[in-house]
Amino acid sequence: MAKSCTAVAPSSTANLGPGYDVFGLGLSALEDTVRITKASGRSRRITIRLSGEKSISIPSNTESNSAGLVIEKMSEDFDLRYDLDVRIVKRVPAGFGMGSSAASAAAAAVAFDRLFNLKVRKSKLIEYAAEGEIASAGTKHYDNVSGAILGGFVIVRTIPELEFIKIIPPEDLVLVIAVPTVKVACRKTEVARSVLPKEVPLKNVIRNVSNASTIVAGFILKDTKMIARGVDDVIVEPARKHLIPGFDAVKSKALKSGALAVTISGAGPSMISFLNSRKNGKLVAHSMAAGFKESKIKSRTFVCHPSNGARVVSVT
Ligand code: HSE
Repeated sequence: MAKSCTAVAPSSTANLGPGYDVFGLGLSALEDTVRITKASGRSRRITIRLSGEKSISIPSNTESNSAGLVIEKMSEDFDLRYDLDVRIVKRVPAGFGMGSSAASAAAAAVAFDRLFNLKVRKSKLIEYAAEGEIASAGTKHYDNVSGAILGGFVIVRTIPELEFIKIIPPEDLVLVIAVPTVKVACRKTEVARSVLPKEVPLKNVIRNVSNASTIVAGFILKDTKMIARGVDDVIVEPARKHLIPGFDAVKSKALKSGALAVTISGAGPSMISFLNSRKNGKLVAHSMAAGFKESKIKSRTFVCHPSNGARVVSVT
């Protein structure tokens, strides 16, 4: 029997414009690492230690930590009573729309599965990882965790039952993320969800369905320009953009310097540009940073690609 297992899971972007809570894309920008080690006790006590990215304080109590919630739920469901030491190395900054809670939750689910040799199927691991989203969003949503577990582009169906459809992205798809150095609220995703309209005009639904369909077609046809044409959201982006200082400048500067499309990454405040070559990557990154700078905000940028999903890196 293994004593300890370490897994990593990537950052991710959700929504891609019109696919709110439906589209997820694993991103190679950064990874979180979770190591779970069996301790001697049998009272199901989970002790979490965090290191790495310190941009906002991530709670280490089990009920408020995305990895902790996943481990607790899996321990209960499989009736495993081990005390567990959990070591999380955060690299994905928390609260910025890069799937930080999802990365830790996904790595925790994959590490737990391997540590106890459970052989849980991937769709069920996504369900467990989604438990972790309650820590930051207040509710479960599957877009980031499906991108983090499966990698690539994932479509989430929730009704009548959960289904995760993965499509391998085109090889030329390049993403540039700009992460503004702003203070984010502790449960920012919950706040960003609370500003969304409860009802929307049918014409906006039609436009978003049309754009979301174009994105899916672009992934299937491996046509990055088509994907980018679909990244146009008339429902969620207009309701959230006021939460992002510099939004308009970042978007227009990125488009002027060669981005094919620009939108909010997940619940923000990071913004993401879509490109079909690395050639303009640095220039777009620079332009996005210049956009935030107009609002006197510093930012970090990442030129990245779609990534593979979570994986085990060591078992001892
Ligand atoms: N789909 C979610 C949202 C992603 O936009 O609220 C949050 O990470």
